[in-house]
Amino acid sequence: MVEETMTLIGASTVWHYIPTLVQWLDIGGFGRRLWQLRESRTKFVQGLIEDERKKKEDGTTTGRTMIGALLALQHKDTEDCPDQLIRALCISALEAGSSTSADTVEWAMSLMLNNPKVMVKVRDEIDSYIGKPIRLIEASDLLKLQYLRCIIMETLRLHPPTPLLVPHESSIDCTVSGFYIPKGTMLLVNTSAIHRDPKIWDKPTNFIPERFEGEKCEGNMAMPFGMGRRRCPAENLGMQMVGLALGTMIQCFEWERVGEELGDMTNGFGLTAPRAVPLEAFYKPRQSMVALLSEI
Ligand code: HEM
Repeated sequence: MVEETMTLIGASTVWHYIPTLVQWLDIGGFGRRLWQLRESRTKFVQGLIEDERKKKEDGTTTGRTMIGALLALQHKDTEDCPDQLIRALCISALEAGSSTSADTVEWAMSLMLNNPKVMVKVRDEIDSYIGKPIRLIEASDLLKLQYLRCIIMETLRLHPPTPLLVPHESSIDCTVSGFYIPKGTMLLVNTSAIHRDPKIWDKPTNFIPERFEGEKCEGNMAMPFGMGRRRCPAENLGMQMVGLALGTMIQCFEWERVGEELGDMTNGFGLTAPRAVPLEAFYKPRQSMVALLSEI
């Protein structure tokens, strides 16, 4: 469902520019696909709400969940927090949070497989921070794993999951660099181009996580989470999810490319910019982690 949403959001931008007759005839079937997607998303999320509602009634809720907290609000005032609102919030989080984070992990692994020295350096950082006895990395370790953070930022610079952010709209008439922009114009911010601008970045197409070390000003120009009031509200959560997934994969396994040649780094289609071809790699548990992994 997330993949279909991303494909259709990309397509719906084109949809705005095609003649009404083509829209009416639904050539290409976008209208039908959007309708089916709406139905399946509603059914799926309503199912999650019903599960949580039942758990609440049976007194079997485990821990605090987003849907649980919203149902508690609904209990106080049904009109203020109807199921429709809960569904919309869940869909926003699922759509905005899953492929962005998963694609970033996949791009980071792809970049490291093509640059094995980076993988060795970050593994050394993880091993020396965790020390002995060995344990899996945890969310609280991430603040100390600075090189891992640099790798994620450099990955987001080269492959921002939303290369044009999301469409914004000018709220007043304004002039930018001599161009008059009337109120109500759709604005797309090309972060992908900003992130590879040779006037800002040294060797812009190279994967160099070190450029994000310390307070280097180059690093301040990256904006994979957007800027201002509509900036991603879950930046910390996103960095944490990607950091934990990537850090654990590096800590636990040896990774290798499937062939001698460098991996294909072509972008696919859609609102997000996933890999055109899903990543394939060889992996095996690290000798030092076998005992710990077999306990899990
Ligand atoms: C690597 C991970 C992520 C990246 C790179 C990312 C990036 C972005 C970007 C670029 C925007 C649009 C900002 C703008 O319009 O200027 C956005 C919005 C948003 N993100 Fe994220 N995001 C990530 C993870 C997440 C996660 C994990 C969640 C929630 C679970 C999330 C929830 C949202 C929501 C709800 C919005 C819309 C905010 C609004 O419209 O005001 N994101 N994100």
